[in-house]
Amino acid sequence: MRETHRDLEVGLADRSYPILIGQGLLGIRDLGPFVTGDRVMIVTNETVAPLYLDQASRCFAGKKVDSVVLPDGEQYKNWQTLNLIFDALLEGQHSRSTTIVALGGGVVGDMAGFAAACYQRGVAYIQIPTTLLSQVDSSVGGKTGINHPLGKNMIGAFHQPQVVLIDTDTLATLPERELPAGLAEVIKYGLIRDQAFLGWLEQSVDALSRLETEALVEAIFRSCACKAEVVSLDEREGGLRAILNLGHTFGHAIETYAGYGRWLHGEAVGTGMLMALDLSARLGLIPESDRVRGETLILRAGLPARPPVDMKPADFLKLMAVDKKNVSGSLRLVLLQALGDAVITSEFDHACLDETLALFCGAGQE
Ligand code: NAD
Ligand code: GLY
Repeated sequence: MRETHRDLEVGLADRSYPILIGQGLLGIRDLGPFVTGDRVMIVTNETVAPLYLDQASRCFAGKKVDSVVLPDGEQYKNWQTLNLIFDALLEGQHSRSTTIVALGGGVVGDMAGFAAACYQRGVAYIQIPTTLLSQVDSSVGGKTGINHPLGKNMIGAFHQPQVVLIDTDTLATLPERELPAGLAEVIKYGLIRDQAFLGWLEQSVDALSRLETEALVEAIFRSCACKAEVVSLDEREGGLRAILNLGHTFGHAIETYAGYGRWLHGEAVGTGMLMALDLSARLGLIPESDRVRGETLILRAGLPARPPVDMKPADFLKLMAVDKKNVSGSLRLVLLQALGDAVITSEFDHACLDETLALFCGAGQE
């Protein structure tokens, strides 16, 4: 039987919420029961609004729906743009019982979620993610925030949504580079926690690249299930949740070096995972055959093999030093001790890290 609708729950006691996944949900599924008062503020951007704002508004029949349209781009994930949301809420006299709706990719989701965490000390919000990356990662788990010129996602709050609505049809309009970027986070779940899913992805990556609905629903469901499990075990990242950052320490360094918006987050994570696989193999944690298996899948998904050509090992080390996972100034990395089994550690041979950086930053570059 074709599975084109699947729901699951993020289990967080009284803050638990459903994730509704399927084809053709936008504008059809009634989200009214997840709205606390009678007013809604949809936060979206100038790219997504003409595509999906009308449809999304139809999920809130009977409510008074306002909207604010932000400029599009990671470079706008900042205080100035966040203030546009507060301006709209205050000008529209929205009270504490309003519900904010994030309609768009991870940039809109993170900013709208952070606005919801702050507005009048916290209001409810709903995630309607429209990129693959935001559907499998950023819309789930309650991390919200903005960038600072000195570091990505450095200002933010944990704030869980009321519901996440994922319509796979929205992926049809995604720009070409966005799908591989989302696949990076999908592959991440297989690498860190689910070897069976990794095997399924090896079979299905081409179907996913062709946007086949059944494959998309399965990949999104299994990714969200993995994330939901990790988040319910460690909501505030006391330990385990950090494994969701496989490849992100290298990746954030790439994004910050390149300047926000030039490399897509998922592209940087993809290259970062190649680096984490390389380092894990150099440290003897995984065999070379597993490194090659991971690398093959990441490259088949269409992700970049190398960081920016002019990026040097010293650039990585400087930027990685401000990563949020670091403790008392010592660098902590997510590494693999098997495919499907991640570990977070600061105890590794730094000579091996230097070798990985040298390989990816030029020496040995083909
Ligand atoms: P994005 O939000 O910039 O979206 C990518 C582009 O696609 C944008 O131009 C957007 O306007 C456009 N777009 C969105 N949906 C579309 C659609 N259906 N059709 C056509 N165009 C569409 O990027 P992203 O990859 O979704 O998210 C990246 C952001 O997510 C980063 O800021 C990253 O830090 C954050 N993130 C957060 C978490 C978290 O846990 N909160 C996790 C991972 C990533
Ligand atoms: N994307 C990492 C996390 O949600 O923890």
